[in-house]
Amino acid sequence: MSNQIDQLSTNQAGHLEIGGVDSLDLVKQYKTPLVVYDVKSIRDQIHHFQKVFQDNGVDFAVSYASKAFACIAMFQLINQEKAHIDVVSGGELYTAIKAGFPMERVSFHGNDKSREELEMAVEHQIGVIILDNFHEIDLLKEVLEDKQSHINVMLRVTPGVSAHTHEYDQTGQVDSKFGFDIQSGQARKALGLVLEDQRMNMLGIHCHIGSQIFEVKGFEMAAVKLIDTLADWNKEIGYVAKVVNVGGGFGIKYTEDDDPIAPEMFVDAIVKAIKKRTEEVNLPMPAVWIEPGRSIAGPAGYNLYTVGSRKDVPGIRSYVTVDGGMGDNIRPALYQAKYEAVLAKNPSAPIKETVRIAGKYCESGDILIQKQDLPATQPGDVLAMLDTGAYGYAMASNYNRNPRPAVVFVENGKSQVAIRRETFEDLVALDEEFN
Ligand code: LLP
Repeated sequence: MSNQIDQLSTNQAGHLEIGGVDSLDLVKQYKTPLVVYDVKSIRDQIHHFQKVFQDNGVDFAVSYASKAFACIAMFQLINQEKAHIDVVSGGELYTAIKAGFPMERVSFHGNDKSREELEMAVEHQIGVIILDNFHEIDLLKEVLEDKQSHINVMLRVTPGVSAHTHEYDQTGQVDSKFGFDIQSGQARKALGLVLEDQRMNMLGIHCHIGSQIFEVKGFEMAAVKLIDTLADWNKEIGYVAKVVNVGGGFGIKYTEDDDPIAPEMFVDAIVKAIKKRTEEVNLPMPAVWIEPGRSIAGPAGYNLYTVGSRKDVPGIRSYVTVDGGMGDNIRPALYQAKYEAVLAKNPSAPIKETVRIAGKYCESGDILIQKQDLPATQPGDVLAMLDTGAYGYAMASNYNRNPRPAVVFVENGKSQVAIRRETFEDLVALDEEFN
């Protein structure tokens, strides 16, 4: 049996328990499909990251990559833990504003920020805009001039490191849509443009090499590349960075096939690599910022589904269908992402069969788990899919006009709604009559 299941909590009745609440009680109260977050798990992972920096005696920011899962309650929780957030759209920024999130702890990413988005960022005086391309530098110059304002910026650069991960999840290699290329001199040119503008305060540089990465080496190489770049800029024009932001991407365990080190151990290695290199090239130690998304939100999330129909294809396999699918978790269909699921009423019940867990969407590719060992199941049983907290609800859609699930936060035996379940009324709320 995999570690994933061994690590689950069960109560006296043998039911899966999340944040001290019986998962079957959650289902009774909120129905399925249901997304559940274990709040303590989110807090703990942020603390683990913070502690690594403290232990290394380094200035830092843990900036939650909110694209993994964003809503008002999530931002308020992140704020309680004194972490930063990064946003990638006006919508994420708006959510942060609505949550009362301190704007000085917000970074703004994106490879095509619009003029309106930049205006919003400047009006709200967010902590830093992470510049991605020359068009954006021009736009931001105009916005700052119009508004007679100032803002902190960083440059996102591509260090030329290929992370060992799914192709769609790689971003740090030279042939990428993100950031300024170091090798060809684009990053150096961008630095010049930023420094000549008195309205931009150049905090430092950023890179993000990819997501769901298991190897430390790529992070260390990227970190060294950033410091070497800063050393070149220092020699040439005396520039000294206050911040080096190494992005996110720390891989997590989804199934027994995954064996990553703890997320904070990646950070420990990165910090040590930066310390060593800055000493070697004689630069002051900058603050180190990280942007973990998956490692904070992923392991904290559970998707609860009710089992419905079943199809046994003689001699081939059995399909067990649940009341959700690609609308609430597109990752298996889009990236062939793998997950594990358990029977909520008895996660360690003896295994009876191996089945394919299908979603309810009208598409053959709507399979949540290709092969899952399960005890015997009946219609009405609840299945809990594990580690679904990152890029699940965040990438949810209304395909087939299915309402998106509710999202519930649980902690210390109490639950609260973070996002209410969509209704059919919500689904037609934007529709206009045809005349
Ligand atoms: N910082 C930047 C600039 C990023 O682009 C990302 C993720 C992160 C931080 C957070 O990376 P994490 O720690 O979550 O790996 N939808 C895909 C993942 C896309 C990640 C995009 N960027 C998936 O479901 O696997």
